[in-house]
Amino acid sequence: MEFNRIYNANSDILLKQILGDGIKFDLILTDPPYNLMKDFGNNSDCQPLDEFLATTKERIALCRDLLKNHGSILWFGIHNYIGYIQTIMYEAGLNYRRMNIWHYKNNFSRTKSSPATQYEPFLWFSRSSDKWTYNADDVRVPYKSEERLKNPVYYKGNNGERKAWIPNPQGALRGDVWTYPTLAGKLFEKERTEHPTQKPESLFIDLIRAFCPKDVEGRYSGLILDPFHGSGTLGVCCEKLNKEGHNISWVGIELEKKWCDIAQARIDTIMK
Ligand SMILES: C[S@@+](CC[C@H](N)C(=O)[O-])C[C@H]1O[C@@H](n2cnc3c(N)ncnc32)[C@H](O)[C@@H]1O
Repeated sequence: MEFNRIYNANSDILLKQILGDGIKFDLILTDPPYNLMKDFGNNSDCQPLDEFLATTKERIALCRDLLKNHGSILWFGIHNYIGYIQTIMYEAGLNYRRMNIWHYKNNFSRTKSSPATQYEPFLWFSRSSDKWTYNADDVRVPYKSEERLKNPVYYKGNNGERKAWIPNPQGALRGDVWTYPTLAGKLFEKERTEHPTQKPESLFIDLIRAFCPKDVEGRYSGLILDPFHGSGTLGVCCEKLNKEGHNISWVGIELEKKWCDIAQARIDTIMK
């Protein structure tokens, strides 16, 4: 299999072939159909719930088997169904690491009968119970107050001794709420494509930084799979990081030729 390319294919078939070829991934970062009746040009988002869950179960089992021993899955979902999907992951024998939240503020409410949706959850499960990649220092965030950087914070250690906590000049360790705007509005006109559920590059770049293994020189160097590649955000973000000197290999699979063409055009623009 060639890496760093898009496959116009059905993941439910191609993933089995990849497994048969013995290829394993460090990270599966994917944003599958949420079953919210979106029009992707196919009926993948419009399944009766039992079919959606049965298909999801098969996909998660395949993804589990496609992970290296220290590999992880990041699986986006929606509040309606994420509980079912989390259960499927436990039942598949994967190891729970964290339910993360992609939080955004720049959406608008379509109804007054319930709160506006301002987040999408994404699950992090690892194949192993004791080995995984999380590059905490690569995704530090600014401290809430600059004052924090000026002075150590003193606290009592276990034996009552005075200890000093010194703020990290690179920022605070980030939490599990990832706040990045959606691609709505004029600000994101250039990044946005026709794809109805395109993810922001800012979010995917930081997820790759956080969860992709590195080589001894500190370059991101894992093999990443997105079996529901859509407009190609995963491939675009890997190639943007590779342009900075990283060495990420990736595979994107997408059923619809139209989205593959859009993804390829985005990648060609970066490679120019
Ligand atoms: C939520 S979108 C992914 C959006 C993507 N993250 C982006 O930023 O553009 C899900 C995609 O999965 C594709 N898809 C659905 N079923 C598929 C299948 N069996 N194999 C491959 N792709 C599929 C849909 O056509 C859709 O483009």
